[in-house]
Amino acid sequence: MQALPRLGMGTWRMGERSRDRAAEVAALRLGLDLGMALVDTAEMYGEGGAEEVVGEAIRGRRDEVFVVTKFYPQHASRRALPAACEASLGRLAVESIDLYLLHWRAAVPFAETVGVLERLVRDGKIRRWGVSNLDAPEMDELSRVAGGTRVAADQVLYNLERRGIEFDLLPWCARREVAVMAYSPLDEGALLRHRALHAVATRLGATPAQVAIAWLLLRPGVTVIPKASSLEHVRENASSANIVLDA
Ligand SMILES: NC(=O)c1ccc[n+]([C@@H]2O[C@H](COP(=O)([O-])OP(=O)(O)OC[C@H]3O[C@@H](n4cnc5c(N)ncnc54)[C@H](OP(=O)(O)O)[C@@H]3O)[C@@H](O)[C@H]2O)c1
Repeated sequence: MQALPRLGMGTWRMGERSRDRAAEVAALRLGLDLGMALVDTAEMYGEGGAEEVVGEAIRGRRDEVFVVTKFYPQHASRRALPAACEASLGRLAVESIDLYLLHWRAAVPFAETVGVLERLVRDGKIRRWGVSNLDAPEMDELSRVAGGTRVAADQVLYNLERRGIEFDLLPWCARREVAVMAYSPLDEGALLRHRALHAVATRLGATPAQVAIAWLLLRPGVTVIPKASSLEHVRENASSANIVLDA
């Protein structure tokens, strides 16, 4: 199975206003041109609008991009999940989703959700599945249901200021080769005002965003998905992989 690209692009808050659409599509296309070969979205973002933006951005270049989307917990049931998946496939205009994530814990039992996800894999609708916002005890619980050990990723909050997952979830995932997707790598932009980050960035001739992303890229098995709608931000983020940080 193909490993997840290490650096991708987020899309939260895209697809909300039609007047921003062309700029959002352009930002994602530029990111693909610059090698950020994964796009993360969700049926929640812009209530389907972000998936449509992604669909437009990847049109004609499906083979270059690893597509991740997420379903609402209220769609995690045997009855609702197949229809939610079809709707996402339609908005994304793809035949198959590379990674399909439960957005956060549902009231539906894991066994039921995993059963449907495994069927979606068999039917070719998704290539693999994962979760988001689950902690280590919840991952333990998930891996005890039939098929649960096939969880491919957990997408969680992780950045220089929010390092809680290092205590248990990160080692849990590393032991089982479950990918960690670090969301809000710039803490939604708030991290970029941090003085220490500015000092390091100045020393390296880089920007604070590049240092924050490069720090996450040092962690094996972690995929980083900064969101940027400005072309300048996309260019900066794409070159984060070139920043060399020492311990
Ligand atoms: N699974 C979940 O529950 C969950 C939760 C949150 C996020 N996510 C995913 O993770 C992605 C990233 O997280 P996020 O959107 O919360 O926040 P983020 O990526 O930490 O930060 C995004 C903000 O930083 C700005 N930015 C980006 N690159 C920059 C740069 N080089 N210099 C200065 N500012 C820069 C963006 O501005 P512009 O847009 O103006 O360029 C935007 O305001 C989301 O888009 C989403 O796909 C998942």
